[in-house]
Amino acid sequence: MSITKREFGKLESGEEVSVYQIKNESGAYIEVTDYGAILRCICVPDKDGNLQDVVLGYDKLEQYFVNGCYFGSTIGRNGNRIAGGKVPVNGQVYQMPQNENENNLHSGPDGYEKQLWKVKEVSEEENAVTFTRMSPDKEQGLPGNFEVAVTYQFTGDNEVKIHYQGVSDQDTLVNMTNHSYFNLSGHQSGTVADQYLCMRSEEFTPVIDSKSIPTGEYAKVADTPMDFRTEKKIGQDVDADYEQLKMTGGYDHNFMLMDYQPGKVRSVAKAYAPDTEIVMEVLTDTPAVQFYSGNFVEREEGKNNAVYTKRSGFCLETQFEPDAVNQKNFHSPILKAGEKYDSTTIYRFSVKKD
Ligand code: GLA
Repeated sequence: MSITKREFGKLESGEEVSVYQIKNESGAYIEVTDYGAILRCICVPDKDGNLQDVVLGYDKLEQYFVNGCYFGSTIGRNGNRIAGGKVPVNGQVYQMPQNENENNLHSGPDGYEKQLWKVKEVSEEENAVTFTRMSPDKEQGLPGNFEVAVTYQFTGDNEVKIHYQGVSDQDTLVNMTNHSYFNLSGHQSGTVADQYLCMRSEEFTPVIDSKSIPTGEYAKVADTPMDFRTEKKIGQDVDADYEQLKMTGGYDHNFMLMDYQPGKVRSVAKAYAPDTEIVMEVLTDTPAVQFYSGNFVEREEGKNNAVYTKRSGFCLETQFEPDAVNQKNFHSPILKAGEKYDSTTIYRFSVKKD
Protein backbone atom coordinates (compact mmCIF):
# COMPACT_ATOMS: atom_id res chain seq x y z
CA MET A 1 0.00 0.00 0.00
CA SER A 2 1.36 3.42 -0.85
CA ILE A 3 0.23 6.96 -1.54
CA THR A 4 2.26 9.32 -3.69
CA LYS A 5 1.53 12.93 -4.52
CA ARG A 6 2.45 14.84 -7.66
CA GLU A 7 1.74 18.26 -9.08
CA PHE A 8 -1.23 18.49 -11.43
CA GLY A 9 -1.10 22.21 -12.23
CA LYS A 10 -2.23 25.55 -10.90
CA LEU A 11 -5.46 27.46 -10.67
CA GLU A 12 -5.64 30.99 -12.09
CA SER A 13 -5.22 32.19 -8.52
CA GLY A 14 -1.83 30.47 -8.40
CA GLU A 15 -3.00 27.80 -5.99
CA GLU A 16 -1.42 24.40 -6.59
CA VAL A 17 -3.43 21.34 -7.48
CA SER A 18 -2.18 17.82 -6.76
CA VAL A 19 -2.90 14.28 -7.84
CA TYR A 20 -2.68 11.48 -5.28
CA GLN A 21 -1.97 7.99 -6.49
CA ILE A 22 -3.26 5.35 -4.08
CA LYS A 23 -1.77 1.94 -4.81
CA ASN A 24 -2.35 -1.46 -3.23
CA GLU A 25 0.10 -4.40 -2.86
CA SER A 26 -0.83 -5.87 -6.23
CA GLY A 27 0.20 -2.68 -8.05
CA ALA A 28 -3.39 -1.71 -8.91
CA TYR A 29 -4.12 1.95 -8.15
CA ILE A 30 -6.50 4.85 -8.31
CA GLU A 31 -5.78 8.56 -8.74
CA VAL A 32 -7.71 11.39 -7.15
CA THR A 33 -7.18 15.13 -7.21
CA ASP A 34 -7.95 17.89 -4.75
CA TYR A 35 -9.43 19.86 -7.65
CA GLY A 36 -13.10 18.93 -7.42
CA ALA A 37 -12.28 15.84 -5.31
CA ILE A 38 -12.28 14.15 -8.70
CA LEU A 39 -11.52 10.48 -9.30
CA ARG A 40 -9.14 10.58 -12.26
CA CYS A 41 -8.34 6.94 -12.84
CA ILE A 42 -8.94 3.40 -11.63
CA CYS A 43 -6.29 0.96 -12.89
CA VAL A 44 -7.20 -2.63 -12.11
CA PRO A 45 -6.07 -5.99 -13.54
CA ASP A 46 -7.81 -7.70 -16.43
CA LYS A 47 -7.95 -11.46 -17.09
CA ASP A 48 -4.28 -11.50 -18.15
CA GLY A 49 -3.14 -9.49 -15.15
CA ASN A 50 -2.58 -6.34 -17.21
CA LEU A 51 -3.79 -3.10 -15.67
CA GLN A 52 -6.71 -1.41 -17.42
CA ASP A 53 -7.82 2.10 -16.62
CA VAL A 54 -11.58 1.68 -16.39
CA VAL A 55 -12.77 5.28 -15.98
CA LEU A 56 -12.90 8.20 -18.39
CA GLY A 57 -10.86 11.27 -17.53
CA TYR A 58 -8.42 13.93 -18.63
CA ASP A 59 -4.65 14.36 -18.58
CA LYS A 60 -4.70 18.13 -18.08
CA LEU A 61 -6.05 20.06 -15.14
CA GLU A 62 -7.38 22.76 -17.53
CA GLN A 63 -9.73 20.19 -19.07
CA TYR A 64 -11.29 19.64 -15.65
CA PHE A 65 -12.02 23.39 -15.46
CA VAL A 66 -14.56 22.74 -18.25
CA ASN A 67 -15.53 19.05 -17.84
CA GLY A 68 -19.03 19.39 -19.24
CA CYS A 69 -19.62 15.65 -18.85
CA TYR A 70 -18.58 15.64 -15.16
CA PHE A 71 -15.93 12.91 -15.59
CA GLY A 72 -15.02 11.45 -12.18
CA SER A 73 -16.65 14.37 -10.40
CA THR A 74 -17.75 14.65 -6.82
CA ILE A 75 -21.20 16.16 -7.26
CA GLY A 76 -22.56 18.28 -4.43
CA ARG A 77 -24.38 19.60 -2.59
CA ASN A 78 -27.01 17.97 -4.80
CA GLY A 79 -26.67 15.46 -7.61
CA ASN A 80 -29.17 15.33 -10.50
CA ARG A 81 -32.03 17.69 -11.33
CA ILE A 82 -34.27 20.01 -9.35
CA ALA A 83 -37.40 21.31 -11.11
CA GLY A 84 -37.11 25.08 -11.60
CA GLY A 85 -34.09 24.99 -9.27
CA LYS A 86 -36.58 25.44 -6.43
CA VAL A 87 -35.78 23.87 -3.08
CA PRO A 88 -38.37 24.14 -0.30
CA VAL A 89 -36.92 23.80 3.19
CA ASN A 90 -39.11 24.41 6.24
CA GLY A 91 -41.64 26.43 4.25
CA GLN A 92 -39.11 28.69 2.58
CA VAL A 93 -38.18 28.22 -1.08
CA TYR A 94 -34.49 28.54 -1.97
CA GLN A 95 -33.49 29.21 -5.58
CA MET A 96 -30.65 27.21 -7.11
CA PRO A 97 -29.07 28.25 -10.45
CA GLN A 98 -31.12 27.27 -13.52
CA ASN A 99 -28.27 25.81 -15.55
CA GLU A 100 -30.16 23.26 -17.68
CA ASN A 101 -33.32 24.57 -19.30
CA GLU A 102 -35.20 26.13 -16.37
CA ASN A 103 -33.93 23.43 -14.01
CA ASN A 104 -30.88 22.86 -11.88
CA LEU A 105 -28.49 20.06 -12.84
CA HIS A 106 -25.74 18.83 -10.50
CA SER A 107 -25.99 22.01 -8.39
CA GLY A 108 -25.10 24.45 -11.18
CA PRO A 109 -21.93 26.16 -12.40
CA ASP A 110 -20.35 26.38 -8.93
CA GLY A 111 -20.53 22.68 -8.25
CA TYR A 112 -18.16 20.93 -5.87
CA GLU A 113 -16.32 19.49 -8.88
CA LYS A 114 -15.12 23.00 -9.71
CA GLN A 115 -13.69 23.83 -6.27
CA LEU A 116 -10.27 23.27 -4.80
CA TRP A 117 -10.68 21.02 -1.76
CA LYS A 118 -8.38 20.88 1.26
CA VAL A 119 -6.51 17.71 1.98
CA LYS A 120 -7.57 16.74 5.46
CA GLU A 121 -5.79 13.43 5.79
CA VAL A 122 -3.51 11.13 3.85
CA SER A 123 -3.66 7.79 5.64
CA GLU A 124 -1.04 5.23 4.64
CA GLU A 125 -2.61 2.82 7.08
CA GLU A 126 -6.08 3.02 5.48
CA ASN A 127 -4.68 3.64 1.99
CA ALA A 128 -7.03 6.61 1.84
CA VAL A 129 -7.12 10.31 1.13
CA THR A 130 -9.74 12.64 2.64
CA PHE A 131 -10.69 15.92 1.01
CA THR A 132 -12.71 18.52 2.82
CA ARG A 133 -14.32 21.90 2.22
CA MET A 134 -16.66 24.37 3.83
CA SER A 135 -19.60 25.01 1.56
CA PRO A 136 -20.90 28.35 2.83
CA ASP A 137 -24.49 29.33 3.54
CA LYS A 138 -26.29 30.29 0.26
CA GLU A 139 -23.64 28.66 -1.95
CA GLN A 140 -25.64 27.37 -4.94
CA GLY A 141 -28.57 29.14 -3.26
CA LEU A 142 -28.84 26.54 -0.50
CA PRO A 143 -29.24 27.22 3.23
CA GLY A 144 -26.62 26.36 5.83
CA ASN A 145 -22.87 26.26 6.20
CA PHE A 146 -22.08 22.69 5.21
CA GLU A 147 -18.75 21.22 6.28
CA VAL A 148 -18.20 18.28 3.94
CA ALA A 149 -15.57 15.57 3.52
CA VAL A 150 -15.02 12.91 0.87
CA THR A 151 -12.69 9.99 1.54
CA TYR A 152 -11.33 7.81 -1.24
CA GLN A 153 -9.94 4.50 -0.06
CA PHE A 154 -8.41 1.82 -2.26
CA THR A 155 -8.29 -1.55 -0.54
CA GLY A 156 -6.17 -4.65 -1.10
CA ASP A 157 -9.25 -6.23 -2.71
CA ASN A 158 -9.42 -3.60 -5.46
CA GLU A 159 -12.34 -1.80 -3.88
CA VAL A 160 -12.75 1.93 -4.38
CA LYS A 161 -14.60 3.11 -1.27
CA ILE A 162 -16.09 6.57 -1.38
CA HIS A 163 -17.24 7.91 1.95
CA TYR A 164 -19.12 11.21 2.23
CA GLN A 165 -19.51 12.92 5.58
CA GLY A 166 -20.89 16.29 6.47
CA VAL A 167 -22.72 18.49 8.90
CA SER A 168 -24.72 21.67 8.37
CA ASP A 169 -25.72 24.42 10.81
CA GLN A 170 -29.18 24.72 9.18
CA ASP A 171 -31.59 22.23 7.68
CA THR A 172 -30.52 21.81 4.05
CA LEU A 173 -30.54 19.64 0.95
CA VAL A 174 -27.69 17.11 0.65
CA ASN A 175 -27.45 14.42 -2.01
CA MET A 176 -23.85 13.73 -2.92
CA THR A 177 -22.69 11.39 -5.66
CA ASN A 178 -19.75 10.49 -7.84
CA HIS A 179 -20.10 10.91 -11.60
CA SER A 180 -17.47 8.44 -12.85
CA TYR A 181 -17.93 6.99 -16.32
CA PHE A 182 -16.92 3.35 -16.37
CA ASN A 183 -15.67 1.36 -19.32
CA LEU A 184 -14.64 -2.09 -18.13
CA SER A 185 -12.83 -2.82 -21.39
CA GLY A 186 -10.58 0.18 -20.71
CA HIS A 187 -11.37 3.89 -21.01
CA GLN A 188 -9.93 4.06 -24.54
CA SER A 189 -11.84 1.11 -25.94
CA GLY A 190 -14.95 2.75 -27.43
CA THR A 191 -18.57 1.95 -26.72
CA VAL A 192 -19.84 0.11 -23.64
CA ALA A 193 -22.78 -1.37 -25.60
CA ASP A 194 -21.39 -4.91 -25.29
CA GLN A 195 -20.80 -4.72 -21.57
CA TYR A 196 -23.26 -6.41 -19.26
CA LEU A 197 -25.19 -4.81 -16.45
CA CYS A 198 -27.40 -6.22 -13.74
CA MET A 199 -29.17 -4.07 -11.12
CA ARG A 200 -31.17 -5.07 -8.06
CA SER A 201 -33.99 -2.81 -9.08
CA GLU A 202 -37.65 -3.49 -9.72
CA GLU A 203 -38.74 0.11 -10.25
CA PHE A 204 -37.51 3.28 -11.87
CA THR A 205 -38.67 6.89 -11.83
CA PRO A 206 -40.12 7.82 -15.26
CA VAL A 207 -39.45 11.33 -16.52
CA ILE A 208 -42.00 13.80 -17.89
CA ASP A 209 -40.10 14.77 -21.04
CA SER A 210 -36.61 15.26 -22.44
CA LYS A 211 -35.79 17.69 -19.61
CA SER A 212 -35.67 14.63 -17.34
CA ILE A 213 -37.70 15.81 -14.35
CA PRO A 214 -39.46 12.76 -12.84
CA THR A 215 -43.24 12.48 -12.88
CA GLY A 216 -43.08 11.51 -9.20
CA GLU A 217 -44.20 7.93 -9.80
CA TYR A 218 -42.38 4.65 -9.46
CA ALA A 219 -42.85 2.39 -12.49
CA LYS A 220 -42.16 -1.35 -12.70
CA VAL A 221 -39.21 -2.37 -14.86
CA ALA A 222 -40.81 -5.76 -15.65
CA ASP A 223 -41.59 -6.23 -19.36
CA THR A 224 -39.81 -3.03 -20.34
CA PRO A 225 -36.32 -2.24 -21.68
CA MET A 226 -35.58 -0.85 -18.19
CA ASP A 227 -35.39 -4.37 -16.78
CA PHE A 228 -31.83 -5.19 -15.65
CA ARG A 229 -32.84 -7.69 -12.97
CA THR A 230 -30.92 -10.33 -14.85
CA GLU A 231 -27.76 -9.28 -16.63
CA LYS A 232 -28.03 -8.00 -20.16
CA LYS A 233 -25.89 -5.98 -22.51
CA ILE A 234 -26.24 -2.22 -22.07
CA GLY A 235 -26.68 -1.99 -25.85
CA GLN A 236 -29.37 -4.65 -26.07
CA ASP A 237 -32.37 -2.34 -25.59
CA VAL A 238 -30.77 1.10 -25.41
CA ASP A 239 -32.24 2.16 -28.76
CA ALA A 240 -35.57 0.42 -28.23
CA ASP A 241 -38.75 2.06 -29.46
CA TYR A 242 -39.76 2.95 -25.90
CA GLU A 243 -40.85 6.45 -25.02
CA GLN A 244 -38.82 6.82 -21.82
CA LEU A 245 -35.61 5.92 -23.67
CA LYS A 246 -36.38 7.98 -26.75
CA MET A 247 -36.91 11.12 -24.67
CA THR A 248 -33.48 10.84 -23.06
CA GLY A 249 -31.53 9.38 -25.99
CA GLY A 250 -30.72 6.20 -24.09
CA TYR A 251 -30.61 5.26 -20.42
CA ASP A 252 -30.60 8.31 -18.17
CA HIS A 253 -32.96 7.24 -15.41
CA ASN A 254 -33.07 6.74 -11.71
CA PHE A 255 -33.54 3.17 -10.55
CA MET A 256 -34.85 2.32 -7.10
CA LEU A 257 -32.54 -0.11 -5.33
CA MET A 258 -33.90 -3.04 -3.35
CA ASP A 259 -33.52 -3.49 0.41
CA TYR A 260 -33.03 0.16 1.26
CA GLN A 261 -32.39 0.81 4.92
CA PRO A 262 -30.72 4.08 5.88
CA GLY A 263 -27.07 3.52 6.72
CA LYS A 264 -26.96 -0.04 5.40
CA VAL A 265 -24.54 -0.77 2.56
CA ARG A 266 -25.71 -3.56 0.29
CA SER A 267 -24.79 -4.90 -3.14
CA VAL A 268 -26.96 -3.24 -5.80
CA ALA A 269 -25.42 -3.73 -9.23
CA LYS A 270 -22.84 -5.63 -11.21
CA ALA A 271 -21.28 -4.89 -14.57
CA TYR A 272 -18.93 -6.95 -16.68
CA ALA A 273 -16.88 -6.67 -19.88
CA PRO A 274 -16.51 -9.95 -21.80
CA ASP A 275 -13.16 -9.05 -23.40
CA THR A 276 -11.16 -8.04 -20.30
CA GLU A 277 -13.39 -10.12 -17.98
CA ILE A 278 -13.29 -7.23 -15.52
CA VAL A 279 -16.27 -7.26 -13.17
CA MET A 280 -17.45 -4.24 -11.17
CA GLU A 281 -19.81 -4.67 -8.27
CA VAL A 282 -21.51 -1.61 -6.79
CA LEU A 283 -22.41 -1.44 -3.12
CA THR A 284 -24.12 1.52 -1.52
CA ASP A 285 -26.42 2.76 1.23
CA THR A 286 -28.44 5.08 -1.03
CA PRO A 287 -32.06 4.37 -2.04
CA ALA A 288 -31.47 4.86 -5.78
CA VAL A 289 -28.95 5.07 -8.60
CA GLN A 290 -28.91 7.09 -11.81
CA PHE A 291 -27.93 4.78 -14.64
CA TYR A 292 -26.67 6.95 -17.48
CA SER A 293 -25.41 5.39 -20.71
CA GLY A 294 -23.22 8.34 -21.74
CA ASN A 295 -25.76 9.61 -24.27
CA PHE A 296 -24.48 13.19 -24.34
CA VAL A 297 -20.74 12.57 -24.65
CA GLU A 298 -19.99 14.17 -28.00
CA ARG A 299 -16.25 14.27 -28.56
CA GLU A 300 -13.85 14.56 -25.68
CA GLU A 301 -10.08 14.26 -25.81
CA GLY A 302 -9.34 12.01 -22.91
CA LYS A 303 -6.37 10.48 -21.14
CA ASN A 304 -3.50 9.13 -23.27
CA ASN A 305 -4.93 10.57 -26.48
CA ALA A 306 -8.12 8.56 -26.20
CA VAL A 307 -11.17 10.07 -27.88
CA TYR A 308 -14.45 9.57 -26.07
CA THR A 309 -17.79 9.73 -27.85
CA LYS A 310 -21.41 8.72 -27.19
CA ARG A 311 -21.55 5.62 -24.92
CA SER A 312 -17.80 5.47 -24.30
CA GLY A 313 -18.69 5.03 -20.64
CA PHE A 314 -21.63 4.42 -18.34
CA CYS A 315 -22.39 5.98 -14.96
CA LEU A 316 -23.94 4.46 -11.88
CA GLU A 317 -24.50 7.53 -9.71
CA THR A 318 -25.75 6.43 -6.30
CA GLN A 319 -28.17 8.97 -4.82
CA PHE A 320 -31.69 9.98 -3.80
CA GLU A 321 -34.32 10.24 -6.50
CA PRO A 322 -34.02 13.30 -8.78
CA ASP A 323 -36.05 16.28 -7.58
CA ALA A 324 -36.83 14.33 -4.41
CA VAL A 325 -37.08 17.57 -2.46
CA ASN A 326 -40.21 18.46 -4.49
CA GLN A 327 -41.80 15.01 -4.55
CA LYS A 328 -43.65 13.74 -1.53
CA ASN A 329 -43.46 10.06 -2.63
CA PHE A 330 -39.68 10.14 -2.82
CA HIS A 331 -37.15 9.76 -0.02
CA SER A 332 -36.40 13.02 1.72
CA PRO A 333 -32.91 14.36 0.95
CA ILE A 334 -33.09 16.93 3.74
CA LEU A 335 -30.28 16.91 6.26
CA LYS A 336 -31.29 18.34 9.62
CA ALA A 337 -29.12 20.97 11.29
CA GLY A 338 -26.41 19.36 13.42
CA GLU A 339 -27.11 15.83 12.17
CA LYS A 340 -24.43 13.85 10.39
CA TYR A 341 -24.60 13.20 6.69
CA ASP A 342 -22.86 9.87 6.15
CA SER A 343 -23.00 7.87 2.95
CA THR A 344 -20.81 5.18 1.41
CA THR A 345 -20.52 3.79 -2.11
CA ILE A 346 -18.09 1.05 -3.08
CA TYR A 347 -16.99 0.10 -6.59
CA ARG A 348 -15.40 -3.35 -6.24
CA PHE A 349 -13.32 -4.74 -9.10
CA SER A 350 -12.41 -8.34 -9.82
CA VAL A 351 -11.92 -10.73 -12.71
CA LYS A 352 -14.76 -13.04 -13.64
CA LYS A 353 -14.65 -16.48 -12.04
CA ASP A 354 -16.46 -19.26 -13.85
C1 GLA B 1 -26.31 12.95 -15.33
C2 GLA B 1 -27.57 13.30 -15.97
C3 GLA B 1 -27.41 13.27 -17.45
C4 GLA B 1 -26.29 14.16 -17.90
C5 GLA B 1 -25.05 13.81 -17.18
C6 GLA B 1 -23.94 14.78 -17.51
O1 GLA B 1 -26.04 11.63 -15.43
O2 GLA B 1 -28.63 12.50 -15.57
O3 GLA B 1 -28.60 13.66 -18.05
O4 GLA B 1 -26.62 15.49 -17.64
O5 GLA B 1 -25.26 13.81 -15.81
O6 GLA B 1 -23.77 14.97 -18.87
